[in-house]
Amino acid sequence: MYLSREEELLLAGEKGETLRKAMEILVAIGEIYGADRLIPIGSVQVAGVSFKNIGQAGLEWISDLKGRAVVPSFLNPAGMDLRRWKEMGIDPDFARDQEMVVEAYRRLGISDDCTCIPYQVRPGVAAEGDHLAWSESSAVSYANSVLGARTNREGGPTALASALLGRTPLCGYHLDENRRPTHMVVVEQELRGSDYGALGFLAGRIVKDGVPLFRLRDKPTLDELKALGASMAASGSVALYYVDGATPSPPSGEPEEKLSFDRTDIEEVREDHPAEDADMVALGCPHCSPAELARIADLLDAKLVRRELWICTARKIAQASPDVVKRIEKSGARVICDTCMVVCPASECYRKIAVNSGKALAYIPGLVRVQAGFGSTEECIEVATKG
Ligand code: F3S
Repeated sequence: MYLSREEELLLAGEKGETLRKAMEILVAIGEIYGADRLIPIGSVQVAGVSFKNIGQAGLEWISDLKGRAVVPSFLNPAGMDLRRWKEMGIDPDFARDQEMVVEAYRRLGISDDCTCIPYQVRPGVAAEGDHLAWSESSAVSYANSVLGARTNREGGPTALASALLGRTPLCGYHLDENRRPTHMVVVEQELRGSDYGALGFLAGRIVKDGVPLFRLRDKPTLDELKALGASMAASGSVALYYVDGATPSPPSGEPEEKLSFDRTDIEEVREDHPAEDADMVALGCPHCSPAELARIADLLDAKLVRRELWICTARKIAQASPDVVKRIEKSGARVICDTCMVVCPASECYRKIAVNSGKALAYIPGLVRVQAGFGSTEECIEVATKG
């Protein structure tokens, strides 16, 4: 792999141990994936924030690093709401360790946005053709597919190395040749809201790490695209997809594999994962946009929740909509920031979590180790408020 003189000096440790380690990580990854050089990047999103996932070893590794991010860099969700952790029932020892993780990242110049939707918190953070080093799988999918930017699905350490160096290896989804569609996916019937999560849940399992091109009857909204990509990244490992007429266009050429789904397939996801008997309901996977929060507030109007209901979002989004948050919380639901139902240990004490997200449906059984039920946003609110 070609390294510039400056990069060679970094790798030799001339600019300190942290940057040497960071270069070592990027060069190792670049060599494994056949990169011929490093390229500059526009921003970094760093996963590996929840103390539940990284533990003491991760905290120590991050705390030992010395340096500053040289490009805009922001964190994925942490293991708790950084302000309201006590009312979530978080253990004080966990809270102390989690705060230390976030503080260690802050010292490295990484912003504590703690969200999986940096593109909705910071509109304009990435544009078509930009090279990025993002880690959270749903954010990677949105950046590649909806924004037309280019990023691989980075691990926590590689993203952090990229933040400190402002570079990433030129390989994978940074290259045109890996951005060609591999599967055509056709749905001829109408899809709405959480149907996109169900569709992604089904398609991801078949497409795996391929690049699907969807032909759909209707044009999805940006939040529906967010849900579609997030579920495919979780049930499979799709990092890039196209939707005819709704995302930037793919390079030319017809995919070889063809799939189709219909309403029966979508309904089967609901039937196979009933939500009615859940003892917790969690919405906001990926984190809610301002429009999704407003819709939930409308659905909760004049209702009282009878089961735990979390609405997960980014702190900046909640802070920008105080009246909407007040309307939601009047029902007894909680607007939870900085974290989510998958990476927060407080959701582990329930028996079954009802979700409107294909990604949460795919992750909850394995990562939270409780059952998951699936329904539309209206159905989930109904479960949370019924007597
Ligand atoms: Fe975001 Fe957590 Fe879902 S990080 S995409 S809300 S699993």
